[in-house]
Amino acid sequence: MLEIRPPTEDDRAAIASVGALAFNMEARADRVTFDTRRRLCAYADDQVVAIAHSIPFGQWLGGKQLPCGGIGAVAVLPEYRGQGAARALVSELLAQERAEGMAVSALYPANAALYRHLGYEYAGLHPGFRAPVADIPPSRAEVAEMGGTDLDGVIACFSRFAAAHNGPVQPLDRACWQTDVLAHPGEGTHQRTVVVAGAPGDIAGYASYFLENAGANGYRVACKHLVAVTAPALTALLGYFRRFENAAAEITWFGPPTGGAVGLALATSTFALQPTLNRWMGRILDVPRALEGRGYPDVSGDLVIELSDPLFPGNTGPWLVRATGGQVVVTLAPEALPSPARAVPIGLFSALYTGFATVGDLVLRGALDESDPRLPILSALFGGPVPWMPDFF
Ligand SMILES: CC(C)(COP(=O)(O)OP(=O)(O)OC[C@H]1O[C@@H](n2cnc3c(N)ncnc32)[C@H](O)[C@@H]1OP(=O)(O)O)[C@@H](O)C(=O)NCCC(=O)NCCS
Repeated sequence: MLEIRPPTEDDRAAIASVGALAFNMEARADRVTFDTRRRLCAYADDQVVAIAHSIPFGQWLGGKQLPCGGIGAVAVLPEYRGQGAARALVSELLAQERAEGMAVSALYPANAALYRHLGYEYAGLHPGFRAPVADIPPSRAEVAEMGGTDLDGVIACFSRFAAAHNGPVQPLDRACWQTDVLAHPGEGTHQRTVVVAGAPGDIAGYASYFLENAGANGYRVACKHLVAVTAPALTALLGYFRRFENAAAEITWFGPPTGGAVGLALATSTFALQPTLNRWMGRILDVPRALEGRGYPDVSGDLVIELSDPLFPGNTGPWLVRATGGQVVVTLAPEALPSPARAVPIGLFSALYTGFATVGDLVLRGALDESDPRLPILSALFGGPVPWMPDFF
């Protein structure tokens, strides 16, 4: 029988070792932090046999930021796999997250089946692009290495950028920006963050990058964040990376599925999606909090919806969702209202909620009927740009 509880700092080495074996990495106890994430472990006779953590993020949906638990480093010792350890551990972690006010959760699955059992569904993309450095327009505009006082400006710049997209997450904890977003442990060489000044005291763009071996082609410049909120800042950042053209063949970056403004700025059509397209899964943890917390198009109308959520029966409803001009109010539906045809599984509803799945997708998955009168309002509320995020965790 496994016992699930928060680890203590004495468990650092054991946590590092379970993670290292699962992901074939070097065991680094010094990278097992406790201040920037919630950790839970499963113990057999006081030995750590399974680990998981959650990073407190804000996730941007429809121009608003919701509290989101980013689940990661889920790993079980091989001797204990296939016995429900991961399921029990992540269920408990999600219950704690929900109780503490997290509205939604996101994760990158190594195995979708495990997380579908827990109510997740694919909910967004992590699109990586590549382009020849010589395709970038040159510019001599000033770009500086990030200084010790720039962090607040960088965070504000990302928030402004992310508010215009569906799906990006940002750590709620400032320290996590330094350890997880702007540092890239174990990746490439020469990690660096550069900034472009905007209005006095503002940062209008920044890029966090490292250099990566590209085999016979030399090296490439790999941007983790390439973020600009003004046209001059985008020009300046791109011009900065053009300066690598004599030695680096390629630049890579993460951006919206269209390639975004960076794709539009390149000289030719040679930019391409990276061969591996990672997808993240999402899960609504608290239905009223999640629905009321995101932004919407200017839609007005009412609908009643019932959900099935074996892990959190409190999410079932039926919910009365009242939309007025970009906001919704969610209450338990009074019994007098007509009940919906059938309960929609929380995972598929979560995929609709981020805008990743369409109502047509839910019809084809059997979660909604094609004659359901709620289809137009569900589509109007949740339809939008394909959700994506630049971060992998
Ligand atoms: C993935 C991992 C965490 C699963 O741990 P586990 O304790 O064996 O998983 P559980 O026994 O709790 O499985 C729960 C459900 O997930 C599914 N599942 C788990 N591992 C699976 C696999 N390898 N393939 C398909 N489904 C799997 C099963 O459907 C299972 O449901 P069931 O009880 O109906 O069979 C474990 O195999 C591991 O540590 N792997 C290496 C690290 C890794 O890939 N981590 C995932 C990061 S997102």
